[in-house]
Amino acid sequence: MSSLKIGIIGVGHVGAHVLYTLALQGLGDDFVIADLEENLPKARAERQDVLDSTEFLSHPVRVEVGQIEDLGDRDIIVNAVGNIAMLKGTHTRLTEMEFNVRAVASYAERLKKSGFKGILINISNPCDVITKWLNDLLELPKGHVFGTGTGLDTARLKIRLQQQTGIDAKSISAYMIGEHGNEQISAWSAVNFNGIPLSVKAQQDPRFRFDLNEMEKSAREGGWTTFNGKFCTEYAIALTAARLVDIVSNDKHSIVPVSCELDGQYGESGLFAGVPAVIGRNGVEEVIELSLTGEEKERFHQCCEGIRANIAESKKIFAAL
Ligand code: LAC
Repeated sequence: MSSLKIGIIGVGHVGAHVLYTLALQGLGDDFVIADLEENLPKARAERQDVLDSTEFLSHPVRVEVGQIEDLGDRDIIVNAVGNIAMLKGTHTRLTEMEFNVRAVASYAERLKKSGFKGILINISNPCDVITKWLNDLLELPKGHVFGTGTGLDTARLKIRLQQQTGIDAKSISAYMIGEHGNEQISAWSAVNFNGIPLSVKAQQDPRFRFDLNEMEKSAREGGWTTFNGKFCTEYAIALTAARLVDIVSNDKHSIVPVSCELDGQYGESGLFAGVPAVIGRNGVEEVIELSLTGEEKERFHQCCEGIRANIAESKKIFAAL
């Protein structure tokens, strides 16, 4: 197996679980993890914990704690910086915007100078805004920077659809689209059960007749359900990122929801938002345009307007640095 070099920036709850998940799944054998100086003791502990797991892993892994400058040779970098404690008592991922804009601004130029030319997958919130900053600051080839976006939100919708209908989530095609945040929406017109539209199933089976708005709200707020109990989310987001690492490293050309740049798709431009895209070795290969209803198009547009407003706010933060 040729070596897969992974970098992880930010080794808090999420970054540590990304490291562990990738090592456990055999996605990567050479990891360099980096964090702010004050977080390095934890990073060293996460390294040791994974190394201590070596006997139980499918293959040996190398894990080093390094600086941003040590990430230049990475094939894939996962950005997971954040300050999750800030979210206690709030109900918006925008709370981390200033912290994460500052973090990205502090290392983007260093990462650029390291010679990194690989794929960067962003998790840090507000995901669509931070992904755009990383894309714009790193100036990597188009498609190389994208975010987990509404990938996790879509998984939250699909498990709820499974619980409601009894159909395996893996047999359900569905998407949450727009902001990885409180404005995301479900593209209900695109939901199907291995090709059978929800609207058809609803005529056949009472399990498929349910309150769409309540289901959408439950998926949209799923992150807060978890956060309110353990003051973080970590397993599902780490697996969301790990799936993307698998798709990129194995050049799978899979269609999955990610936060990617819109250049006219859905009538939107100049922002990153969660939509389905074809992902492969070079990152985002194609943005998939769902056939949305008129109402869905308008709701998606309003969501994009909200992301644009958040980008404008982030520019004020950046300008004040
Ligand atoms: C969540 C975080 C990753 O939705 O924003 O769990």
